[in-house]
Amino acid sequence: MPDSPKNHKASITIWYCHLAQPFDQARLALWASWLDPQETARMNRFHRQAHRVRFLVSHAMTREVIARQCGATPSCIEFRALAQGKPYISSPTALQKYFFNLTHSHDMAAIAISDSSPLGLDLEWLGRKGPDVSLAGRYFTQREYKDILKQPAHLQHQRLLRYWTLKEAYIKAEGWGLSAGLDSFEFILSDTKPPRLHICKPQATPRHAWQFQQFKLKDSHLVAIAGVAQQGETLQTDCTAWSP
Ligand SMILES: CC(C)(COP(=O)(O)OP(=O)(O)OC[C@H]1O[C@@H](n2cnc3c(N)ncnc32)[C@H](O)[C@@H]1OP(=O)(O)O)[C@@H](O)C(=O)NCCC(=O)NCCS
Repeated sequence: MPDSPKNHKASITIWYCHLAQPFDQARLALWASWLDPQETARMNRFHRQAHRVRFLVSHAMTREVIARQCGATPSCIEFRALAQGKPYISSPTALQKYFFNLTHSHDMAAIAISDSSPLGLDLEWLGRKGPDVSLAGRYFTQREYKDILKQPAHLQHQRLLRYWTLKEAYIKAEGWGLSAGLDSFEFILSDTKPPRLHICKPQATPRHAWQFQQFKLKDSHLVAIAGVAQQGETLQTDCTAWSP
């Protein structure tokens, strides 16, 4: 599996940030001033200060990245959500053509942004203990489960996380949320080609011609992205550390 992509003709830009680093108080206060009342209420629902900071930094990164790429002010961006919770930019109107998706896992957050088509992004920390491989037997397709079991024991968990992140990226790209059955579609993994989606049940039929990419970020996290390439082209992504 490749490391983080660097492609300057990217149609999708991914930014990531370590959430556990020290952030100075003035910066946190500035970022807090960008949040809308709904985001502020969500942040304040976390009991632990560290969790509030993680929420704040990932949402500040979202606003700053969109603002920088689209030429806007971070605090002016307004969001709404689709029925299953997928956020999109509702205002200013000129920014409605931009699509983004946020993900966080352990001490890392990442956002992907495109100026032309929807996308879905998922990140998982490779150091996480669960889920147990038996979960794949219950919820993934038989082909995926058998493929996981075929791997040497020490690689089975990582193989499961490869399927997990791809499934999440697809679900998030479509904006389905938890309603999507995880065995209604499956991925075919290859050492040489990008992951391929196979639809098993009609309810998982895609609304776009999704292409998928998967890579390791900093050796500690696994990233999967679902995006739409230009006609006849391959999905191009670029992944960069966010430095506010
Ligand atoms: C949001 C959801 C789609 C992903 O959750 P998750 O993996 O825990 O969270 P991630 O960190 O990757 O993404 C969260 C972000 O996605 C965005 N989001 C929320 N709902 C979304 C949806 N329906 N579709 C796409 N993006 C969504 C939000 O920006 C959210 O960030 P926020 O909570 O800070 O505002 C979740 O509702 C879900 O359905 N998870 C499936 C869980 C599961 O059973 N997975 C099995 C493994 S395949």
